[in-house]
This record gives sequence, C-alpha cells and structure tokens, in this order.
Amino acid sequence: MMSPSKLAVLTVFAFALLGSVSCQAGTYYYTPPAPATPQPPACPPPVTPVPPPASPPTYPPPTPTSPPAPTPTPPPPPPPSSPGTQLMVGYYKNKCGAYVDVEAIVKKHVSATDAGMQAGLVRLFFHDCFVRGCDGSVLLDTFSNDTSLTPEKFGVPNFPSLRGFEVIDAAKAEMEAACPGTVSCADIVAFAARDASYFLSGGGISFAMPAGRYDGTVSLASETLPNLPPPFAGFDQLVKMFDDKGLDALDMITLSGAHSIGRSHCSSFTRDRLPPSNTTDMDPAFAATLQASCASANGTDNTVMQDFATPDVLDNQYYKNVLAHKVLFTSDAALTTNFTSNNLVRAYADFVPYLWQQKFAKAMVKMGGVEIKTAANGEIRKTCRKINSRP
Ligand code: HEM
Ligand SMILES: *[C@@H]1O[C@H](CO)[C@@H](O)[C@H](O)[C@H]1NC(C)=O
Ligand SMILES: *[C@@H]1O[C@H](CO)[C@@H](O)[C@H](O)[C@H]1NC(C)=O
Ligand SMILES: *[C@@H]1O[C@H](CO)[C@@H](O)[C@H](O)[C@H]1NC(C)=O
Ligand SMILES: *[C@@H]1O[C@H](CO)[C@@H](O)[C@H](O)[C@H]1NC(C)=O
Repeated sequence: MMSPSKLAVLTVFAFALLGSVSCQAGTYYYTPPAPATPQPPACPPPVTPVPPPASPPTYPPPTPTSPPAPTPTPPPPPPPSSPGTQLMVGYYKNKCGAYVDVEAIVKKHVSATDAGMQAGLVRLFFHDCFVRGCDGSVLLDTFSNDTSLTPEKFGVPNFPSLRGFEVIDAAKAEMEAACPGTVSCADIVAFAARDASYFLSGGGISFAMPAGRYDGTVSLASETLPNLPPPFAGFDQLVKMFDDKGLDALDMITLSGAHSIGRSHCSSFTRDRLPPSNTTDMDPAFAATLQASCASANGTDNTVMQDFATPDVLDNQYYKNVLAHKVLFTSDAALTTNFTSNNLVRAYADFVPYLWQQKFAKAMVKMGGVEIKTAANGEIRKTCRKINSRP
C-alpha cells in the first residue's frame, strides 16, 4: 500500500506527461491507409520481425448494407471542431416537459442488457468520440446521402467486433416517442456508456455526464484506422493518438482500464502476441491458455475475455493483469514500457479501487468533450442509423 502523498506525487507526475512521437510501427492485417497528413518517421525494422500472415485477413472485409459503387465520390473534409462548445450536466432537464426523464430512459435500456453488451456500449462511446468527435457518426448505416461510401461501423476496428447498436436504437425509439426531435444520438451514446460503467462497476463508478452534443452527418470507414489506436500500438503511438484528440497520457492509461470488461476476437492479438511470435513478455501459461481458446479447426475467429480474473466487472483488476503480464494486447503491455506510466499502473493496481474509479469517471467526461458539434454543424437525428435529409 502506498501513502496518499506519494500517490499524489505520482499522479501529478503523470499529469505532466506530454505527447511525443518517436515512430509508428505495426503492419499486417490491420494495414493503415496512406497518411493524409505528415506522419512521424517509419520505425527501423524490428529485431525479430512478426512473420506476415499465412492466411488472408481474419478481420472480415466490410459488408456495407448497399454494395459500393466502383468510383466513389471523394468525401468532404472533416468539419472543424468547436473547441468553445460547452456541454452541460442536466442539459435535457427542461427540454421534454415535467414528466420525461431523458437520462432515466437510457439507463433503463442499458440495465436491461447483459454485461457483454454493456462492455460494448463503453467501447462504442470511445469509437464514436475518436472519429469526427462524439457525434454519433459511428451509428450511421450509410456514409451520408451517398450510399457508395462505406460508413465507420464497417471500418476494420469496428467490424464485426463493435456492439451495442440495438440498445441505442431501442433507447432512441422510446425517446422519440416521449420527446420528439430533441435528444441527440451522440448524447444517448454518452449516457449509455456512463450507465454501462455504473452497472459493470456495481455502482462504484457513478458520475454526471454533461450533454448537449449534436449529431454529425458524415461517417467514413476510411477514417477509422487513422484515428483509432490499433492493438499493436506501442506507448508513444498511443500517447500520440490520444494527444490528437486532446487527451493526455494519464487519460490514455486511465481509460485503458476499460479492458477489464468485455471480450476480444483472437485476430486482434494472435499475430503479434502469441507464438510463433515470441517478442512479447506475456506470461507463458496465460499465452498457452489463449492459444487453446483461440484454436479453431474451421477458421472461426474465436473470442476471449479481456480480463481473465473478473471478466464482467469494471475495476482496477486490469492494472494487476498488466503487471502480471496477463493482458491481450501490445497496447496493454506497453503501459509498463514508460517509467512514469509504469508507476501509475502500479498505483492503480495497488491503491484502493476508488482512486482509479474517480480518474476513470473524469477521463470519460473529458473524452465526451472531443470535437463536439453544435446546431451550426450538426443536427438532432430522428433515427440514429441515418441522417435526417435521407429518406
Ligand atoms: C488504448 C488504446 C486502445 C486499444 C489499442 C484498444 C483496442 C481494443 C481491441 C483490439 C479490442 C477487441 C476488439 C475485438 O477484437 O473484439 C478492444 C475491446 C474493448 N475495448 Fe479497447 N482499445 C483501446 C482503448 C479503449 C478505451 C479508451 C476504451 C473505453 C474507455 C476501450 C474499451 C474497450 C472495451 C469495453 C472492449 C470490449 C468490447 C466488447 O466486449 O464488445 N478500449 N479494444
Ligand atoms: C514517458 O511518456 C511521456 C509521455 O509520452 C514522455 O513525456 C516521457 O518522456 C516518457 N518517459 C520516458 C522515460 O520515456
Ligand atoms: C442530402 O440530400 C438532401 C436532398 O437531396 C439535401 O437537402 C441535404 O442537404 C443533403 N444532406 C447532406 C448532409 O449532404
Ligand atoms: C522463439 O520461438 C521459436 C519457436 O517457437 C523458438 O525456436 C525460438 O528459440 C524462440 N526465441 C526466443 C528468443 O525465445
Ligand atoms: C466452426 O466450429 C465451431 C465449433 O468448433 C462451430 O461452433 C462453428 O459454427 C463453426 N463455424 C463454421 C463457419 O463452420
């Protein structure tokens, strides 16, 4: 156990972490598209290269609801973010009359789902916020008015693993019946992630989620890989990708604790984390268990739990797993590769769960403020799966 003063020093130290980029590594099935903006220099070849996949990508190719046209029209550039936008706690309090409790409607729908779906809702919020801001763009079934481009939800990091869409649909349907045209899909995603965190932590993570987000009108699969960190990311790349969203290293380390719930498909970690790749420090017995769980005679992409110890509880167990080398991703293990980060991981693992819970709540609110849209560049969608101008 660590004294509070020592912890405070650690935490302040961690707050001082600043983004710095050395290089960007990682190739294989999760191949990033050509960079649109200046990128950091390429890494020198690794000492023990990961062998190229023997079989085609195990992440299935995108299957949009409408078949893609051969020559898609180029998308408009991302809209500017609105840094001055203020979200408000209790934003919907007086917007739907005296008898409609907007946040209670969302909470009811989240409470009716299982732990796996609730984990999916926490991740849905992260994936929404990191691509075009927290604007519900991840929910759209088509790019915009144009059905020839693939939307975010079919991007490699999202398909087929992202889940929770039906929960949002159900909450939105009840919302529109009770209070039409008022509550954004982006806010429903944010409330749902907050409520899922509450239920999965047994009430330990309980916080107010500011609202007032508007929904976006554009969703592009091509924007997922450049904005969402891949599981093979190293520490510096993680810091850089969170810094791009206005989140610091402490936020990144704290939000990674969400990997104490939910599952992962084997294709997300087998290539860089399991034998014959032996460049990792994974616990050998844990690696053997994962290999057995991932073994598949017919090529099925199996799933395993993120947190082997308490799979359905959102708690600081994740940080104990990181220290025990019993985590799935390179990005999880990377948290020990930086001195300050390693200290924070130890603090989160050793100290009362309360410390991490408080920081996690704070970081979720901060993530919920990424690139917020207003009435000027967004809308309140009637259905979360399509923009209002689409029939
Ligand atoms: C730090 C960088 C991160 C990376 C590289 C990463 C990567 C991943 C990957 C590859 C999966 C497994 C997907 C699959 O194959 O099924 C996953 C699952 C998950 N991630 Fe992350 N993630 C990161 C940060 C976050 C954050 C910030 C949150 C939320 C605050 C989050 C919440 C989750 C949850 C809850 C799951 C389980 C989802 C389910 O069971 O449906 N992750 N993540
Ligand atoms: C740890 O990470 C932070 C944030 O990227 C960086 O400022 C610091 O220099 C790193 N420390 C070491 C020892 O690499
Ligand atoms: C979609 O199409 C409608 C009618 O053609 C148009 O009024 C609207 O502005 C378009 N919306 C977007 C986001 O392009
Ligand atoms: C890596 O694994 C291969 C095959 O499993 C083995 O032959 C080799 O000795 C291992 N290398 C290290 C450094 O452990
Ligand atoms: C593959 O095998 C598993 C059982 O081992 C079965 O549940 C699954 O349906 C099979 N998938 C296909 C595509 O045959």
